[in-house]
Amino acid sequence: MSDQSVQLIDGKNDRSTSLPIVTGTLGDPALDIGRLNKETGYFTYDPGFVSTASTRSAITYIDGDKGVLLYRGYPIEQLAKHSNFLETSYLLINGELPSRTEFNQFEHEVTHHTMMHESQKNFLNGFRYDAHPMAMLCASVASLSAFYHDNLDMDDPEQRRLAAIRLIAKVPTIAAAAYRSSVGWPVRYPRNNLEYVTRFLHMMFEVPSEPLELNPTVAKALDLLFILHADHEQNASTSTVRLVGSTGANPYACIAAGIAALWGPAHGGANEAVLSMLTDIGDAKNVASAVAKAKDKDSGFRLMGFGHRVYKNFDPRATIIREMTHKVLADLNIKDPLLDVAMALEEVALKDSYFVERKLYPNVDFYSGIIYKALRIPTEMFTVMFAIARTAGWVAHWLEQQVTPDAKIGRPRQVYTGSVQRDYIEVGKR
Ligand code: ACO
Repeated sequence: MSDQSVQLIDGKNDRSTSLPIVTGTLGDPALDIGRLNKETGYFTYDPGFVSTASTRSAITYIDGDKGVLLYRGYPIEQLAKHSNFLETSYLLINGELPSRTEFNQFEHEVTHHTMMHESQKNFLNGFRYDAHPMAMLCASVASLSAFYHDNLDMDDPEQRRLAAIRLIAKVPTIAAAAYRSSVGWPVRYPRNNLEYVTRFLHMMFEVPSEPLELNPTVAKALDLLFILHADHEQNASTSTVRLVGSTGANPYACIAAGIAALWGPAHGGANEAVLSMLTDIGDAKNVASAVAKAKDKDSGFRLMGFGHRVYKNFDPRATIIREMTHKVLADLNIKDPLLDVAMALEEVALKDSYFVERKLYPNVDFYSGIIYKALRIPTEMFTVMFAIARTAGWVAHWLEQQVTPDAKIGRPRQVYTGSVQRDYIEVGKR
């Protein structure tokens, strides 16, 4: 905290208040309004938290104007090139890159917590055949709190760490089991001799009747997508995890809440929505009319995979994914007409003054769906893939929150617009 402040002049009541300035290591400073209401009788009004920092955090930094994304100070481009998802998860949680021994120990622990309780299969079997896997994932992760509630001491750092490991380890197992149960395949147990992403792909796709022949490009591409999706500071789902976490709720319930928030098409559900949009557009010749429709506010249609609350120049993850999409499709020898539609759409939108003026650029999800499709991940599993990756970020934020000295229960205020006080009227007199 700096000793600088900003004077707030209240012309209506002819008085002023000084608001302390809070600074971090990077980024815009913030005004500390914690005592504003007590001292002035005013609240602040900021729907969507456009100008509000809800916490201090040392995990991820974004500069939306410059297209910068840092995990614990490391640029996403460097992590995408040199790291792997599990190492990135360690970094997010612990703040430093692991030594070889630390990484081996972390990988060993994650690997040995991947099994889910046998009775969890009963939950999955209880869903109707057409249940959305995000619904199954959300409910099943929440159910982990029933398996690990009684013996969880949230004041014990070791138990908190173990909860984080369990979540990173078990979410892929549950995700794969949700998919398999939706297609009527028997659940595939995790194999400890495989590394994280390959193990997940085996749990998803291996059938009892024959071994899975996995192209290394597939595992590498998925690992990279997981790195890119691992964290993104105080986005809607992470803020949800923190809000639920602020009440002292069980960590598995907190992450289930994050999964629920991620599902919406304005957030993680966008990757699934992008693919249906590209399929609906169908051909590059229909792109102009889709763009016209997106500009027409009465249509209720937005270009999915375009725009971001924070990035107003470019989304660095989208740049990496765009390049990777071409490579993956070439390596797997796939010609996908949807990629032609996506490229035509990007080209038209980026030249259109509506999108230019509003700084609407392709976001991380614009291309990720095409890669998932090339990796044969079913469309309804796209957001589940995002959830697996983001679990690393969610647990890192939950762990950070648990040791924040001035942490308070999250409890926003409101500007009330309802009826003023009135008396109850008996039903016969209404
Ligand atoms: N297509 C058309 N117009 C758009 C789009 C879009 N995708 N996104 C924003 N706009 C327009 C809005 O209509 C608004 O126009 P106006 O100023 O004339 O009223 C202006 O751009 C600003 O939009 P807001 O909704 O105020 O921007 P906000 O920061 O609140 O929303 C969001 C960001 C939700 C991502 C939005 O751009 C959107 O809905 N995009 C499509 C969904 C999507 O791709 N979501 C994934 C986000 S990334 C992630 O979660 C991983």
